[in-house]
Amino acid sequence: MWMSSRAANVPGSVFALMDAAKSRARARGRAIIDLSIGSSDQAPPEAVLEALREATRDPLTYRYPLFSDTAPLREAAADYLRRRFGVGVNPETEVLPLIGAQEGLAHLLLAVTDPGDTLLLPDPGYPPYLGAAAVAGLRTVPLPLRPERGFLPDLDAVPGDVQPRALLLNYPNNPTSAVADAAFFAQVVEWCQARGTLLIHDHPYAELTCDDYRAPSALEAGLDGVVELHSLSKTHHMGGFRVGFAAGDAGAIAALARVKGAVDFHAYLGIQRAATLALGLPDEVGRAGAAVFQARRDALVPALRALGWEVQWPQASMYAWARVPGLTDSVAFAVRAAEDCGVVVSPGRAFGERGEGFVRFALVQPPEVLVEAARRLAGIGVGETVRNAP
Ligand SMILES: Cc1ncc(COP(=O)(O)O)c(C=O)c1O
Repeated sequence: MWMSSRAANVPGSVFALMDAAKSRARARGRAIIDLSIGSSDQAPPEAVLEALREATRDPLTYRYPLFSDTAPLREAAADYLRRRFGVGVNPETEVLPLIGAQEGLAHLLLAVTDPGDTLLLPDPGYPPYLGAAAVAGLRTVPLPLRPERGFLPDLDAVPGDVQPRALLLNYPNNPTSAVADAAFFAQVVEWCQARGTLLIHDHPYAELTCDDYRAPSALEAGLDGVVELHSLSKTHHMGGFRVGFAAGDAGAIAALARVKGAVDFHAYLGIQRAATLALGLPDEVGRAGAAVFQARRDALVPALRALGWEVQWPQASMYAWARVPGLTDSVAFAVRAAEDCGVVVSPGRAFGERGEGFVRFALVQPPEVLVEAARRLAGIGVGETVRNAP
């Protein structure tokens, strides 16, 4: 009775189904290996935790933070963008702290679109994208991400009569772990500018890169008509702290600040101080965290390939995206993997129609546990029965 149509339009999540399967597996006494949630299992750098502890002892942090109080974090974000990507932004007008990239996206859509506007978004894609679009009352047009194109969208295939107000992308990508180079973003920005479309680039995995790969920023292609969402959740293992920032087009940032002004008072100042310190840490700190995921990738991907599953070698993010030959119902498959093998993964279907046939592994356990997960899955068929499950 009290549900608005915008609330009713937020899609349900298959993760509730997976949670129930996990409980049933536990009730059967199975030891669970949970690889379903992309939340870092590493701790934030000690200096970041210390900055937060210290802030809690400072009474100045107990009051409502105002925009002017966010200056140190905005300046740290601007310094980070310059140091890391060679991108210059004005910390007064082109940067805004967020309570996480997810919060930022939902409010950005409310800030820059009107109900009925069209949003182009990736399929497969991070599930809350659809919820944020529903809350903003948008018409969504999925952009298929196909393995044969390296999971990059084909913008030339977007029908001419689609007039998108905004295009949402995310590289390094969740769930496919695909990456995009600077030339790709330059083309996308050109495409958007020709149509008066805002490019929103969701960039939480900017620092979770492997080997010598370094992810570019979409802002390298220009700030006009581009907003990028950064997060400390993955890059600094601060998911629970809820902090990130938006940077880019001054008009879109001003609109976002207006909407957020009606909704929140910014993050707690202690969190802002911790994030300010985190963004200024030497690159090696971030590299050390990324190396942990790289070692896990090196263990899991060959083990999955040995099962005959198709996995592109991830250069970034914290996921392995595996196509299971013959699989047509990834949700049923993931439920059986949980109940019969005790291995909890995310069904590809949870990320969109184009995710069907795939499963996503979050690299949130040590290498030997990941190899054990693959071993347990060795007997699972794509049909109704599980063979040789432990
Ligand atoms: C693509 C993507 N965007 C946003 C988020 C959430 O980021 P935050 O914790 O900053 O809200 C996630 C978390 O998994 C993600 O994968």
